[in-house]
Amino acid sequence: MALMNENYLKLQGSYLFSEIARRISEFKKENPQADIIRMGIGDVTRPLAPAVIKAMHQAVDEMGQPGTFRGYGPEQGYEFLAQKIIENDFTPRGIEIDVSEVFVSDGAKSDTANFQELFGINNILAVTDPVYPVYVDSNVMAGRTGYPNAKGQFENIVYLPCNEENGMKPSLPLTRVDMIYLCYPNNPTGMTLSKEELEKWVAYARENKAIILYDAAYEAFIREENVPHSIFEINGAREVAVEFRSFSKTAGFTGTRCAYTIVPKEVMVYDSQGNCHSLNKMWLRRQTTKFNGASYPVQAAAAAVFSEEGKKQIRETIDYYMENAGIIKRGLEKAGYKVFGGVNAPYIWFKTPNQMPSWDFFDKLMKEAHVIGTPGAGFGASGEGYFRLTAFNSRENTEQAIERIKTRVFF
Ligand code: MLT
Repeated sequence: MALMNENYLKLQGSYLFSEIARRISEFKKENPQADIIRMGIGDVTRPLAPAVIKAMHQAVDEMGQPGTFRGYGPEQGYEFLAQKIIENDFTPRGIEIDVSEVFVSDGAKSDTANFQELFGINNILAVTDPVYPVYVDSNVMAGRTGYPNAKGQFENIVYLPCNEENGMKPSLPLTRVDMIYLCYPNNPTGMTLSKEELEKWVAYARENKAIILYDAAYEAFIREENVPHSIFEINGAREVAVEFRSFSKTAGFTGTRCAYTIVPKEVMVYDSQGNCHSLNKMWLRRQTTKFNGASYPVQAAAAAVFSEEGKKQIRETIDYYMENAGIIKRGLEKAGYKVFGGVNAPYIWFKTPNQMPSWDFFDKLMKEAHVIGTPGAGFGASGEGYFRLTAFNSRENTEQAIERIKTRVFF
C-alpha cells in the first residue's frame, strides 16, 4: 500500500488561483454573455518584445541546423545569460555577483517553492501576512509546519501582520526564526521597504544566523528613489540572503518561463554539529539532480531583454502597466476606497467597504461589475477585509473595470 505524504492533508483543497479560476468558470456557465475583465492573477497581457521574439526565432533556427544544434545545456543556465544578468541587473547598482552565483531556471514560483528543500525540517519560518501563498504551501508540503488553526495559520510559522496600522510594513519577529521570506515590491500589497527598513532585516538575519529568502520578482516596477532593487544593495546581505528574480512580469515571460536566483558563495547554513555549509553548493547539487535547465531558445530570448532595443521595448511595456496602476489607484481613491500599492508595483491593494469579507467582495464584484480580482483572505488572515487588483490588463479594460466599479458596485 502506497502511503501518502500526509502534509498535503494540512492544505486547503485548492491553490488560491485555481479556486478563483473555478469560480469564474462556474459564473461563466451561468452567465455566458458576461464580458469578464480579469484583474485577478498577476498574468501579463502585452506580447513579448520584438527584440525578444527575434532572438527566440533565431535560436529556434539554430536548433534546426546540425552545426548549431544544442542538446542539454548547463543546469545552472548558459553563461551568456548569466553575464548579461550581472552586467545589467547588478553591476550598475554597485553589486558584485559571480556567474557561479546565478542560477537560471524556469520560474520564480518553482524556485521559491523548491528552495526550502535545502533547510532542516525543524527550522521556524517567518512570513509576512498577507503573503504569496507559494512560500507557505511549499513549506507545509515539506512538513515544516503543523496543522492550521481556525484562521488558517499554520503551527511553526511566525506570521508578521502587515496592515493599515503599520502601513503594510512587517515588524521584526518577537521570537527567533530561521528562514524569513520577504517579497519587495510586495505581492500582494504593492508596498515597498526603504533601504533603512531592509537594513534592519539583514541585521536581524546576521544576529540570528537566519536566512532571508528575498523575492524581487517585481523590482522592475520600482519608480521611487531609496527603494532597494536588490537585497544585495544592503551591506552584509551576501552572508544571509538569496534573491529570486523573474522575467515573467518584467518582460512578459509568464507563458515563456524564465527566472533566476542569486545564491552568494558566502551564505551558509549549519548542520546539527554546528558546521557551516554553502547554500550555493547545495542549490547547485539540487538543481543538477532535479533540473535540466531552461530551454536554449528561452534563455536566448531572455538575454535579448538586455539588448538596447530590448531594454527600451520592455521599459515601454512596464510604463504601460504602471499607467494602468495609476488609473486603478486614482479611480478607486476617487470612489472612496482606501488604497495601498500601485506606485512601485503592478498590484493595487485596497480595503473592502464596511469590512466586507473579501470572498464576498470577490463575488459581488464578479456578479455586479464582471470584474475579477483576488480576495485578500487568499493571501492570509491579515488579508481579510482587503482586495487586490492587478495592472496587467489592457488600458481599455483597466479603464472599463474602474468605470464599472464606480457605477455598478454600491454598498
Ligand atoms: C499573482 O497573481 O500573485 C502571481 O501572478 C502569481 C505568480 O506569479 O505565480
